[in-house]
Amino acid sequence: MKIKTTVYQLQLGGMANFSYIIADNASHNAAVIDPHDDTDAILEVLSSNKLTLSHILLTHGHFDHIGGVALLSKKLNAPVHLSLHESPLYNVKAPNLIQTKNNDTISLGESQIKCIHTPGHTPGCQCFLVDNDLFTGDTLFINAVGRIDLPGGNGTILFQSLQRIKTIPETTVIWPGHDYGATSSDTLLHLKQTNPFLACSSKEEFLDFFM
Ligand SMILES: [Fe+2]
Repeated sequence: MKIKTTVYQLQLGGMANFSYIIADNASHNAAVIDPHDDTDAILEVLSSNKLTLSHILLTHGHFDHIGGVALLSKKLNAPVHLSLHESPLYNVKAPNLIQTKNNDTISLGESQIKCIHTPGHTPGCQCFLVDNDLFTGDTLFINAVGRIDLPGGNGTILFQSLQRIKTIPETTVIWPGHDYGATSSDTLLHLKQTNPFLACSSKEEFLDFFM
C-alpha cells in the first residue's frame, strides 16, 4: 500500500499530551488531532511545512485534548469532528462542530480518515485510522489504557473496544494520546505482546487490573 500521509507528533504540556498533525502528501491539506492549548507549536508545524488545516479531529472531549480547538477553529476556519456519543459533560464548543459516528470517513486531500468508535474511557471516544496509522487518544497507550473512573467511563465497554482494535492489521502503528510508555509509538503486533491490558483474553482478567 502506498503511504500517502505524513505524521507529525508533538508532545505538549505538563501532562505529556500528544497532539498530531496528519498531512496529505499530495494536497498539503492537514488535520490536527487533539490540539493542545499550545497552539503556537501546532501553527509552527503547519507553517513550516506549508500545510493548510482542513480538519480538527477529537478523540474525546477531555480538557487536556481540546485546549487549542477554539483558537484553531476560529483562526483557520476548520471544522471540528467529535463523536455524537460523547458525554454532555465533555461537550466542545466550536463554530463548526460535526458529530461523527462509527465508520464515518473524512476526506483529507487524496487520503481518507476512518472514525472508529471506541467507548470506555469516555462514551464518545474514537480512534482515527489513516493509512497504516491508528490514533488512539486515551483508549490505548503504549503500556496501558485510559482511566475508567472518570464520568462516563466503563471498564467492560473499554475491554470490548480493545477487542475491536485487535482485529485491525497488526502492522498498524499505534499513536497514543499521552507519552506514558517506553516509546512514543509502536506496532499493534508488538503491543499485543507487551501491553498487559491488551493481552487480556477475558473481561474478568481485564477488570482485575482496576481493582
Ligand atoms: Fe481522557
